[in-house]
Amino acid sequence: MASFREMCFTPAEFTALAKIKKDQFAQLESSGRINTTKRKMGNVDRKMITLEDLQAYFQSTRKMGTGAESAGQAIPVEALENGSLPSVAVATDSGFTLKDPTHKIQMFYNVKGGTGKSTLTAQYVMRASMMGLKVLAIDLDGQGHLTVNLDILDAHERPTIYDVLINDLPIEESVINVAPCLDLIPANLGLCNIEIPLNNKPRREYRLAEAIERLAEHYDLIVADTNPAASILNCSMMVASNLINVVCATNPLSFHGMSLVMATIEDMEREFRKQMNVKIVPNMYDNREVISQEVLGELRTQFADWCAHAVINRSADMNEATKRRTTVWDVNPKGTAASDINGLAEELLFC
Ligand SMILES: Nc1ncnc2c1ncn2[C@@H]1O[C@H](COP(=O)(O)OP(=O)(O)OP(=O)(O)O)[C@@H](O)[C@H]1O
Ligand SMILES: [Mg+2]
Repeated sequence: MASFREMCFTPAEFTALAKIKKDQFAQLESSGRINTTKRKMGNVDRKMITLEDLQAYFQSTRKMGTGAESAGQAIPVEALENGSLPSVAVATDSGFTLKDPTHKIQMFYNVKGGTGKSTLTAQYVMRASMMGLKVLAIDLDGQGHLTVNLDILDAHERPTIYDVLINDLPIEESVINVAPCLDLIPANLGLCNIEIPLNNKPRREYRLAEAIERLAEHYDLIVADTNPAASILNCSMMVASNLINVVCATNPLSFHGMSLVMATIEDMEREFRKQMNVKIVPNMYDNREVISQEVLGELRTQFADWCAHAVINRSADMNEATKRRTTVWDVNPKGTAASDINGLAEELLFC
């Protein structure tokens, strides 16, 4: 059972991720743009692409579009003819353009518990790092579920954002590497005690934003999983974020709580004089259930400006990925969960 960092992809999986035609794979391989490794599967040696080689391919494709560090310029037409249009590309009048994530600092949020915040944060950050983006995940929940989902099991011994915000630990010292292109600031139970000391600190809601700012230049994307409460820590993350992803399970109670969530966000906008970008992510959708269909319909009607196009179906693969502490892509690359997470990642990165 491989962990995320040891993941390998078949050529067919690679072509699906890179959005190229199957016959173009050989061309990329012979030109040295993608490395392959032989791995023993039973008695046969199979050609595989490691996570690092997948990331290197996407990174080279991003650089091709720019010839420099900054993304956002057109990819040469030959590159498109060679079949190297990546999933991070968008069509423009002048061809295709590679983009950096539209919103660099994001959070998954809902005051209601159990809607799937930690699961989707973990899947999203792993999927974004597969694209070669440099990602920092931040666990802001003392339950430490994001930390566990990313396969870190010794978080009780490690510093957390508590030490950064309360004990003035330099934020760099709280960061650990989880996989190539994926770092994490973990959480443990001690983080549950942060509210009172944080309340007593000067500029309490700005401390987190200022700490994250010190690290921001090293990452393409920073994503926090939050605790299910209207806490000061969550408010601090709202101050730091460019995009708030509200995860709403498609059941009546979760839907009922949405008005409160949106009102809380509006209050924050007024208090901090900041326009918040919000995406509502419907989760655990089951198209066989009338109630699920009704709730999704209501979300799309009542919150039309915010509701994501992507919908995450209820899927056993999602639970299996949580159990195995890896990505749904690893569990079943052809499954609904993998394709839902692909759609979600593309929308949240480039919306
Ligand atoms: N799309 C899905 N399909 C099936 N199971 C899911 C899905 N999304 C989440 N789950 C499962 O639902 C449970 C709750 O998810 P999760 O812990 O991510 O919620 P949460 O919002 O972070 O909870 P909390 O508020 O306690 O932090 C987990 O067992 C997870 O595996
Ligand atoms: Mg959680």
